[in-house]
Amino acid sequence: MDKKFFDYIIHGGDYNPDQWIDTPEIWDEDMRLMNLANVNSATVGIFAWSMIEPEEGVYNFEWLDEILDKLHENGKDVILATPSGARPAWLAQKYPEVLRVEANGIRNEYGVRHNHCLTSPVYREKVRNINTLLAERYKDHPAVKMWHISNEYCGECHCELCQEAFRDWLKAHYKDLDELNFKWWNGFWSHKMTDWSQINSPKDRGENHVVAMKLAWKRFVSDSHISFYENEIAPLREITPNIPITTNFMKMYDGIDYQDFAKHLDLVSWDNYPAWDRGATHSEAVETAFVHDNFRSLKDGQPFFLMESTPSIVNWHEVNKIPKPFRQEQSSVQAVAHGADSIQYFQWRKSRGGHEKFHGAVVDHCGHENTRVFKEVSHLGSVLQKLDGVVGKGYNGKVAIIYDWQNKWATSVFCGYNNNERDYLGECVKWYKPLWEKGIAVDVIPMDADYGKYDLVIAPFLYMLKDGTIDRIEEYVRNGGNFVAGYLTGIVDEDDLCYLGGFPADKLKDVFGIWCEETDSLPEGIKNTVSYKDKSYKAVNFCDILHANTAETLGTYEDDFYSGSPAVTLNSYGKGKAYYVAFANEGDFFADFIEELSEKIDLGASPFRIPDGVSVVKRDEYVFVMNFADEEKNINLDREYEDVLNGEKVSSLNLPICGYAVIRCL
Ligand code: GLA
Ligand code: ZN
Repeated sequence: MDKKFFDYIIHGGDYNPDQWIDTPEIWDEDMRLMNLANVNSATVGIFAWSMIEPEEGVYNFEWLDEILDKLHENGKDVILATPSGARPAWLAQKYPEVLRVEANGIRNEYGVRHNHCLTSPVYREKVRNINTLLAERYKDHPAVKMWHISNEYCGECHCELCQEAFRDWLKAHYKDLDELNFKWWNGFWSHKMTDWSQINSPKDRGENHVVAMKLAWKRFVSDSHISFYENEIAPLREITPNIPITTNFMKMYDGIDYQDFAKHLDLVSWDNYPAWDRGATHSEAVETAFVHDNFRSLKDGQPFFLMESTPSIVNWHEVNKIPKPFRQEQSSVQAVAHGADSIQYFQWRKSRGGHEKFHGAVVDHCGHENTRVFKEVSHLGSVLQKLDGVVGKGYNGKVAIIYDWQNKWATSVFCGYNNNERDYLGECVKWYKPLWEKGIAVDVIPMDADYGKYDLVIAPFLYMLKDGTIDRIEEYVRNGGNFVAGYLTGIVDEDDLCYLGGFPADKLKDVFGIWCEETDSLPEGIKNTVSYKDKSYKAVNFCDILHANTAETLGTYEDDFYSGSPAVTLNSYGKGKAYYVAFANEGDFFADFIEELSEKIDLGASPFRIPDGVSVVKRDEYVFVMNFADEEKNINLDREYEDVLNGEKVSSLNLPICGYAVIRCL
């Protein structure tokens, strides 16, 4: 879905002039350097609360007025942040209820950030107040183009206010206690609740074995963040209805259902910090691509913002290795290829003190532009200017992988089968990799998305089924869709109750034409193998043991008592096809399987052969070719293209390590 907020790619990042308030000459130097760095925007005000409101009700906006004016005079767009991610000490001291209580029941002291109660009426009111003042003051400021709400919402609070809010949430989600007791299976271990007040948040020193309750708590916490956010943005929507709103997400952060949260945003943005150049560049590139595709898919293919990245190193890896020169440029281009309309950094100028003083920044402690990092940023800025044509262009793939936040929660909270290997993201990325290698565009969707527009839907480890999913899958396949399910599909319902009558749930047994009787879990070092089309593949971690009813058996286990039983099946159902891959593979299975599918179904693969470690991504008319291998690569193109960055005609590409090209059809 196309959607444009600017006419050019935003290039900038977190700018914290409040850290340099005593040295105003640095602000002027920043303007000079931003121009040199080909930076066109700055994100201002994140964590600036105590600078704006040094004492309760005493405001100091002058410094912010001045810096916004300066940025505007220098032609920079401003993304203005609300400061709720960290609070002034006076606020926490006067209103201790704003501080978070950990699961151990102890209230945190003042400190760090993201240390606030999500429910506290006082904190919500204070946030609304400061946001109202910001909106009123800057609603007509010509530089202010977007709101950046808070920063990386995360965590949870177990205070009494949150316990009460949790109970209210439960009352709204369950008809009565009887229903809750049934859905939580509270007859087990004598856990029947007779009063709502008996329910507390899950914790180690209390209840942490009622799986459905843990799931409910995760849903509640996620909803609390969204309601906290809605409270924050209410004055902004009212006072600045035309300024778009985003908040920065963190990769596949587990604590908030981003697929739900995204519905409340005008655009999605996220903070990207891959661990490049640790010897597995190729895998890092694949996983990062998957995450980008996820964020593009959150609003149905709409472009997203890359709100943060580091121009060099972070400070929070165990060992902060400097990535290879130009890796950051390539990483940024990868984001643009997958749908980013901005490349932004944390942060513009390196802090002099404090926790992040060794985190990479565009301007280092030396303070001038004669650094490798600064030059690379500036170079990237000039490259991005040549790619303005992609701005606003969204896209969808013909293939979707279901990565569902709530299913992720469900797969992580249950006890049983293989308790060590529940890598839901890893499993999805294993399926994604061969698609990435063939240049096939992929959407990453929740299970309640519309499957109809995809030629292929892949659902790894779809253990929990939200209401309606069974019908959705059935209808999709009946109408001609191709659906691939992985092991442990359709085991529990939305409340984590196991389906009765055999797995996969209900009529999915007809759709897939199978019945799963048992699941074997393989400890590390013990494997099975699967014979499929004359090749033998390694089965690890999980092996569903199936009976094929109407399904055709395409592959069989080779070991153990279930040797000879089906491991890969295909069922023709209605006009479509339903595949079941019953085992976790370590090796080539996914690649061979996708290869075969792409021969049968046009999945939109690259028209030219892609060497190992190279990624080809098409966004609008631009084809991004990126070398993530640890050696130089030559690529023969299927025709002549224009090299967008230098205007030349090319029919082959020679890409060094970290190299990339952007080409388009002549
Ligand atoms: C996050 C935060 C930033 C900064 C960076 C450091 O993304 O949003 O404020 O702490 O991490 O990598
Ligand atoms: Zn709380």
